[in-house]
Amino acid sequence: MSYQTLKLENHGKVWVMTISRPEALNALNSQVIDEMSAAIAMLAQKNFSECAALVLTGQGEKSFVAGGDIKEMSSLTSAQALKFAELGHQLLNSFENLKIPVIAAVNGFALGGGCELALACDFIYASENAKFALPEVTLGLMPGFGGTIRLSRVVGQNRAKELTYTGEMISAAEAYRIGLVNKVLPLAELLPAAIKTAQTISSRAPVAIAHAKKSILRTFDTEMNLATEIEAQEFSILFETKDMREGTTAFLEKRKPNFTGL
Ligand code: CAA
Repeated sequence: MSYQTLKLENHGKVWVMTISRPEALNALNSQVIDEMSAAIAMLAQKNFSECAALVLTGQGEKSFVAGGDIKEMSSLTSAQALKFAELGHQLLNSFENLKIPVIAAVNGFALGGGCELALACDFIYASENAKFALPEVTLGLMPGFGGTIRLSRVVGQNRAKELTYTGEMISAAEAYRIGLVNKVLPLAELLPAAIKTAQTISSRAPVAIAHAKKSILRTFDTEMNLATEIEAQEFSILFETKDMREGTTAFLEKRKPNFTGL
């Protein structure tokens, strides 16, 4: 399939999705959302030998994603806005629930829906020029793509409330300080670093990573007894995989494992 607002390429088992709508700083309009949804559905069909990690970034040197498309949103009715938010949620949930890890390589503005999109990824690397904000209240809006849910889970409720109520932009350094991003890099090094980490991930046992991801997502904010039950279940499933036998045998035989994703 060909996309007008996306670029999709792979470096072996690592895929890179680049949101490309530079005339609007890569803002998320319906077309971008539809194309990203189709691309994610396509990647979700791939097996681990074809796709083991994804890097998400934005085209250019200025913006990751400058938010939901304000022009498009400005004329929506409440019913249409509900649909738009639901579409956004479906898309971001599909990133979060992808069985492979997704790294957001934030190369500039990550505002509103852009910040929310990065938050739906497994973790964030940012360039030194990156800027984060939930500026919706400056538009008479509130975050509608998961911002009131995911930001507080990452940086804590009080910091999330301050960012949400003020709409203020924070630098990459400040985002690092509050734990929103894992690494800050010069712009030219951002994508190579994200791809390198994705390659490391893709050299590990992919089914194990998928179950670890599922356990992290399902146990977050879950009562401890239920959480430990879920983790034990996910852990035990791995004992049915060839990769678990291969990984443990390779260790005992003092050789490198050869994982197949089975
Ligand atoms: N939607 C639509 N178009 C956008 C956009 C957005 N979110 N952000 C930028 N653009 C467009 C601008 O309208 C402009 O288009 P024209 O050249 O046709 O006028 C183009 O991108 C370049 O932008 P600027 O000229 O404004 O660039 P700048 O360098 O002066 O400023 C900026 C950059 C600070 C990011 C500024 O563009 C800005 O504040 N953008 C809006 C950010 C925002 O409020 N995002 C949240 C949206 S609401 C949301 O996301 C809700 C949700 O939860 C889904």
